[in-house]
Amino acid sequence: MSLPALDKARIPRHLAIIMDGNGRWAERHGMSRAAGHEAGAKSVRAVIKACRELEAVEALSLYAFSTENWRRSRFEVSTLFRLLIKYIAIELDELHEQNIRVTVMGRLEDLPERARQDMREAMEKTAGNTALTVNVALNYGARDEIVRAARAIANEAVAGRLDPKDIDDACFAAHLDQPELPDPDLLIRTSGEMRLSNFMLWQLSYAEIVVLSTLWPDFRKEHLY
Ligand code: IPE
Ligand code: IPE
Ligand code: MG
Repeated sequence: MSLPALDKARIPRHLAIIMDGNGRWAERHGMSRAAGHEAGAKSVRAVIKACRELEAVEALSLYAFSTENWRRSRFEVSTLFRLLIKYIAIELDELHEQNIRVTVMGRLEDLPERARQDMREAMEKTAGNTALTVNVALNYGARDEIVRAARAIANEAVAGRLDPKDIDDACFAAHLDQPELPDPDLLIRTSGEMRLSNFMLWQLSYAEIVVLSTLWPDFRKEHLY
């Protein structure tokens, strides 16, 4: 599909996606949940490419693993991190060549060692890139992010570096995980569920929300357009 005639001025600067439905896709195809996640990784590749081609999108936030996802079976959790490691190994050089910067939201320190190292490497290698920021929410929960921000602010106040009178919207937002990104203009959730599942609660305050029935592994650039 070639680029449609989209009005560049109306393309979101920051697009956030809750990538849902890998399990249902797998079930429909008589496959394992792992195969569903593997298929979902192809959609990630397609969407990053499409955003890069659109040029007007500055940031793409992808919900990859929530603080609640630890409740899944140990096997599924390890499958998800194994796929993440595999994805970085395959894609990192190309992301870098495409001038794409990788950032992370969430508590990286609780990830399996290898996944943490690989994400650090991806962030360091691509830190100077400017065409598109791909912001991966990993071990991310918005309540956790907000609590960590509140704690950091309290510590600064106790240390005397911050006057509580100066705590306002901007000060609070500056303590969130990726303060330099603009708030998302658009949130897309695939697979029909009408909920936020603890994603970017502060930043999505004014975002438009589109819920598609399409399952994440079927999502391609035509859905995005
Ligand atoms: C989204 O697909 C992937 C992750 C949460 C990591 P699901 O695994 O939630 O798929 P469903 O909701 O069971 O279909
Ligand atoms: C949201 O999907 C989390 C991610 C996409 C990583 P879930 O499938 O985990 O959300 P719930 O459990 O349906 O709310
Ligand atoms: Mg789900």
